[in-house]
Amino acid sequence: IPAEGLSACWKSPSNIALIKYWGKLGGQLPANASLSITLSNAYTVTRVAASRLDTPGSGPEAEFRFEGELNLPFSSRINTFLKSVASHFQYLPDVKLSIESGNSFPHSAGIASSASGMSALALCLCALEAQFQDKEAGAPGFYEKASSIARLGSGSACRSVYGGITVWGRHHDVPGSSDEYAVPLHFDPHPLFSGLRDAILIVDPGEKKVSSSVGHGLMNGHPFAESRFAQAGRNLSELLVALKSGDWQVFARIVENEALSLHAMMLASDPWFILMHPNTLLIINKTEEFRKQTGAKVCFTLDAGPNIHLLYPEEETERIASLIKSLKLYCFNEKVIEDSVGEGPKQLTCR
Ligand code: PMV
Repeated sequence: IPAEGLSACWKSPSNIALIKYWGKLGGQLPANASLSITLSNAYTVTRVAASRLDTPGSGPEAEFRFEGELNLPFSSRINTFLKSVASHFQYLPDVKLSIESGNSFPHSAGIASSASGMSALALCLCALEAQFQDKEAGAPGFYEKASSIARLGSGSACRSVYGGITVWGRHHDVPGSSDEYAVPLHFDPHPLFSGLRDAILIVDPGEKKVSSSVGHGLMNGHPFAESRFAQAGRNLSELLVALKSGDWQVFARIVENEALSLHAMMLASDPWFILMHPNTLLIINKTEEFRKQTGAKVCFTLDAGPNIHLLYPEEETERIASLIKSLKLYCFNEKVIEDSVGEGPKQLTCR
């Protein structure tokens, strides 16, 4: 390790799942395959600088700063994560890391930052490894490893290391798919989906009512677990066909079925969780009404929370703008974040 140390800087986006990951096999492996689109405007930028520890082998030590602040509640999660991945990187036990991170979106905007945050950090760790080995970031195997490391931080983060559409979890219709890391979709989707838009309607920007780890845990012993995992597999097969052929009707049907099935699992778990807000249902109903009246190509999906993601192809931008305008009334402070499918993470020049 050179005395002045090495550093890496990556910008990595968030993603929204269309086929949901909800339930684990253990070891951060998913109970079913999931598929997501990587976003563009909602991203994290992370810079990691490594310097030699006085007592090599005792690390990694880390100092984590988020938007300039030290000792935030999630600092301990970062430290636990770094310790848990130390054995995957030869250099880690010998270094002290200085990590600086920031998001393009406000902290409590109702957008989960674990996917963008953990993928940006995993990419930095892998880029540092490449530098220590005198290799280029992006060499064969680089993104698989970054995805697999991101997965250990937060399952859904492993899908954020590529742009476009990605799949995580073994599935018979996706060649090369793996439970350990995500892969980019193995075909070019129909042009209808190439500029897919996502308007995030913020109904409630607050903290999640149920953490992901508790939520996944509720699927252990859940009375509908096995049929849910089988349903996700069938939905993924059908969604892949629709993505290839450009069948919006099928796409919308599957995407909405996945969102509501995710919430149905939480409604039927013990203890139960109602994560939708009355305005979530109102927006869903109004969206369906609008679709019936206008025939517009638009559908919704939800994360494990009350906010709505409205998905629509680029060609519908004008029509959907009027829908969004009317739905803003039901959002917190009329807050809507407009995003679209993006190109994936980028390595930045460290400063
Ligand atoms: O990555 P986690 O453990 O926060 O789980 C994310 C789960 C969902 O966002 C609800 C679905 C998904 O596939 O992203």
